[in-house]
Amino acid sequence: MSTTLIEKVPTIKTLNNIATSGLDVFKQNYNIDENSENPDAIVVRSFNMHDMELGDNVKAIARAGAGVNNIPIKKCTEQGVVVFNTPGANANAVKEIVLTSLMASSRNLFAGAAWARTLEGQGDQIGKLVEAGKKNFVGSEIKGKTLGVIGLGAIGALVANDALDLGMDVIGFDPFISVDTAWNLSRNVQRANSIEELYAVSDYITVHVPLTDDTIGMFNEETFKLMKPGVQLFNFSRGGLVNEEDIAIALDSGKVGKFITDFPTENVLKMKNAVAFPHLGASTKESEENCAIMAARQVKQFLETGNIKNS
Ligand code: MLT
Repeated sequence: MSTTLIEKVPTIKTLNNIATSGLDVFKQNYNIDENSENPDAIVVRSFNMHDMELGDNVKAIARAGAGVNNIPIKKCTEQGVVVFNTPGANANAVKEIVLTSLMASSRNLFAGAAWARTLEGQGDQIGKLVEAGKKNFVGSEIKGKTLGVIGLGAIGALVANDALDLGMDVIGFDPFISVDTAWNLSRNVQRANSIEELYAVSDYITVHVPLTDDTIGMFNEETFKLMKPGVQLFNFSRGGLVNEEDIAIALDSGKVGKFITDFPTENVLKMKNAVAFPHLGASTKESEENCAIMAARQVKQFLETGNIKNS
């Protein structure tokens, strides 16, 4: 039997520009109000809700994205507010940025492009300077190198499968789920029995786990010691996974060759051989639409039927 949780026209509050295609899901019989103080449900992207009053009318919060660390889960549980996220909806976008960065980093494209800009004003000399300077940016090819993928949910599994197609050897480990139950993972991805095994063989490591009490600072002095010298680390998950003091030292010593992160901080921006992006992992038109539509559908279904479907 279906249970409707709403008697009047429900109000949906949106936080940080949820794609309009998502809001279209609410077109009929819903009131969208960014300023509502006590909506029936909230659809949010990255806005930090920890200090926000929820209002006693709120029945659901949907996060248009995978991570839910911007949502006060404990408060929601206490108040009986259902929390949704959008697993898989932005996986392709994140996979593409990881593989793009992997290749760009390997070929020194970030450093090379920054250096080329310094030639501005050299006029006719630029050609000569390029020939002299390019030796500083000789890269390496990813084909035949080993990529370690930590976290084999929707995003990690896609990264692992497509890296195989680029000719990489891929080893996967998931701290939470058994590798055999990972999302559509190719059989050619080698299964690491432990994270230490993955650290020992990987030339590149990419991480796709949520930020939790167990994963905070998981990349630190101790774990860097277990990695290959010159390893390149890619973090498009959450900044808190990496201990910033320790990675600064590891980058200085060359133990970690490069650090590519989607989470700039004052410390990161000072680090040698670190490249930071402004949290662009899921920022594609397609992914923003997929996440917004999935989030809106979940909320609508829940408000109208009481069904909780997190997909
Ligand atoms: C995620 O958790 O999926 C991303 O942080 C999404 C986003 O960029 O909003």
